[in-house]
Amino acid sequence: MKLERMSKKELIALLTTLRARSDEQQPLKSLGEFGEDVYKILANSSQVGFYIIQDERFKFINSHFCDYTGYSEDEMLEMHPTSFILPEDRHRTVKNASMMLRELRFSPYEFRIITKDGRIKWIMETVMPIKFNGRRAILGNSMDITERKEASRRLEELEALESSILDAIPQAVLGLHERRINFANYAVKIIFGWHREELIGKSIRMIYRNEEEADKIGDIFYSSLERRRTYETEYPCICKDGREILCRMKASRIGEKLREKRIVVTYEDITAEKKAQEELERSRQELRNLSVHLQSVREEESTRVARKIHDELGQSLTALQMDLSWLKNRIPAGHKDIREKTRSMSGLVDETIDSVHKLTMELRPSMLDDLGLPAAIEWQAGDFQKRWGILCQTNIRCSDDGIDKDLATAVFRIFQETLTNIARHAKTTSCRVSLTKNEKELSLEVTDKGIGITQWQVDDPRSYGMIGMRERAHLWGGTIHVRNVRPSGTTVKVVIPLGKGEKKQ
Ligand SMILES: Nc1ncnc2c1ncn2[C@@H]1O[C@H](COP(=O)(O)OP(=O)(O)OP(=O)(O)O)[C@@H](O)[C@H]1O
Ligand SMILES: [Mg+2]
Repeated sequence: MKLERMSKKELIALLTTLRARSDEQQPLKSLGEFGEDVYKILANSSQVGFYIIQDERFKFINSHFCDYTGYSEDEMLEMHPTSFILPEDRHRTVKNASMMLRELRFSPYEFRIITKDGRIKWIMETVMPIKFNGRRAILGNSMDITERKEASRRLEELEALESSILDAIPQAVLGLHERRINFANYAVKIIFGWHREELIGKSIRMIYRNEEEADKIGDIFYSSLERRRTYETEYPCICKDGREILCRMKASRIGEKLREKRIVVTYEDITAEKKAQEELERSRQELRNLSVHLQSVREEESTRVARKIHDELGQSLTALQMDLSWLKNRIPAGHKDIREKTRSMSGLVDETIDSVHKLTMELRPSMLDDLGLPAAIEWQAGDFQKRWGILCQTNIRCSDDGIDKDLATAVFRIFQETLTNIARHAKTTSCRVSLTKNEKELSLEVTDKGIGITQWQVDDPRSYGMIGMRERAHLWGGTIHVRNVRPSGTTVKVVIPLGKGEKKQ
């Protein structure tokens, strides 16, 4: 068989034979069929580095070994065989080699060399004693394993990085295979009170309140992860000490497909967060209820005062006016000054009647109760135009049918606040109002051509006018959108759903 075609195994067998022969003091040159310089052929037929050392000097070096070190064959023949081994590794390498030569060690050993250009390379090596030119020598067989070493170092680094990342995250992370825990990070102790060693190999049931819930969430995870990569939910769990907690869980499958039911799940304890959220929502609701209550009390009070002023003051003033006119008719001729006085008194009473009328309308427009929302909006727009000199076009396509009295009041008050804002902030000379209704919703839209509004102004927690409008609409399950319009100006749109009818409490 040609040496070039031999496998590594066969080469090793051959070397063993050679060694046996050399032990029998047979000169290498008498190896017959393999020719006289068998080492050279061996060396060139292999992908590994070969060398022969005798009298602490290299006697032969193959090209691969030269490539490892970066030195030429001639240079290496002049060098001490250990001189290119990294000083820290030198002692250990010589010791390993000597043990192998004495057959006290059989596995290859590793060490680092410094190449001619100063790089560090990892070499794996075996040595065996041989006879060379009739005398004792060492045959070395080495491989450059730098890349492999580097790859495994990187892998180790990556694994270390992965586990430190997993340990650094505050959520508990569990790796699952067929509902058994095969990985747990440090945070499982913080969240569930279990040491990770206590969980590994156990069923995931350990962290759920009962078998049923454990099965249910398992089914949800596995069926969802068949279709998508990740799945998120909130679910109750139980700690080692029996404490129940609510967890936000994120599950994701390991790999592209949900093969072998391998998934990883993170658990975040959101019990306190949920409680705080509920507390916040509860106090928000309380504030809403309070504001609703205050609004309705104020509304009732305004209606009562308006009625009282209208009925009592209005009637008295009308009676006074009638008395004055009776008096005027009875003033004897020639009393011009008294006649003049009564006329001015009568004028003053008329003005007072007007003021009372305006006051009662401001407190509670009677048409809201008497004629309904569309008429009240129309009247308010006209009054606004007169009072502020801002043109206010109306487009009322809505009947009063089916509009609850309290709802009419809410929409009317929102409208009043919108108009007041236009007068105070918009810097405009005109605006448009539209009120529409269908079987589904009631909609009021007020658009001005003013300077516009910013989202910040809309959302500012100190914008009490805006908050009041929102609260009023919210009470009826409605919404308010305030936004800029082109080329400039602001639109306030209120939409209240109808039909379901009920006011929220
Ligand atoms: N039509 C509008 N055009 C321009 N800016 C507006 C308009 N409406 C409201 N704004 C701006 O939005 C802010 C908030 O309005 P909001 O009604 O909440 O408060 P306010 O009118 O300043 O005070 P109040 O609590 O008395 O109503 C206003 O201060 C104003 O800057
Ligand atoms: Mg305002």
